Amino acid sequence: MQILRPYGRLSLCAEMVREGSRLADIGTDHGYLPIHLCLTGKIPSALACDINPFPLRSAEENIIKHQLSDRITTRLSDGLQQVREDEADDIVIAGMGGELIRDILKAAPWVKNSSKHLVLQPMTHHEDLVKWLYENGFTILRQKAVCDEGKHYTVLCARCDGAGRSADLFDCIVVGLDPDDPLSQGFLKRSLNNLRNRSKGDPSLLPTIRRIEEIIHEDQ
Ligand SMILES: C[S@@+](CC[C@H](N)C(=O)[O-])C[C@H]1O[C@@H](n2cnc3c(N)ncnc32)[C@H](O)[C@@H]1O
Repeated sequence: MQILRPYGRLSLCAEMVREGSRLADIGTDHGYLPIHLCLTGKIPSALACDINPFPLRSAEENIIKHQLSDRITTRLSDGLQQVREDEADDIVIAGMGGELIRDILKAAPWVKNSSKHLVLQPMTHHEDLVKWLYENGFTILRQKAVCDEGKHYTVLCARCDGAGRSADLFDCIVVGLDPDDPLSQGFLKRSLNNLRNRSKGDPSLLPTIRRIEEIIHEDQ
């Protein structure tokens, strides 16, 4: 049974979760990600967390429908506040703004445990999230672009290794994306449009715009 849209945002998140890990899915909504990962046998168990009772109820119904109540636990939680460090190996936070994802991570210092993998899928403000990750000792293990319902996003997998990095805006947007990959190009074009709009009030963004235009061979 197809739970996740093939090649969509959540499919890419699922791909980046480690085999055999215990998952905490923060902002689970319908619970599709943990359900998919348990049904495919990639993970043994998961915590499906949400700040709102209504989506959590819908996750519960879906979990029961797929007979996974013994493997997936739902939990009402603001971010990671109700999740203990020893309960999860991989943490997915998907489908929220980059600033909210950053604030959720900030409020749970145990995510800096180097054995934890963070799989993050910001809908907006990707670069603010990456900047915070770099400044707080995280390394980006993988970043890939995806097109979901006509819009380009990235999914990134990060782990803390304690080495603080400084990165400029260009680095925070591109983070190892291959500019020749069509999906990465789609994401970089979306970032470019956003920067062009912002540059009307902030000309300091122009050098970054030029650098991105160069790598995707797009001239104004
Ligand atoms: C747009 S849905 C994303 C659902 C799913 N993760 C996805 O990517 O398709 C966002 C979900 O995050 C939840 N949420 C928002 N803020 C949250 C927070 N601080 N902690 C936990 N869940 C939160 C919302 O209630 C909602 O169910």
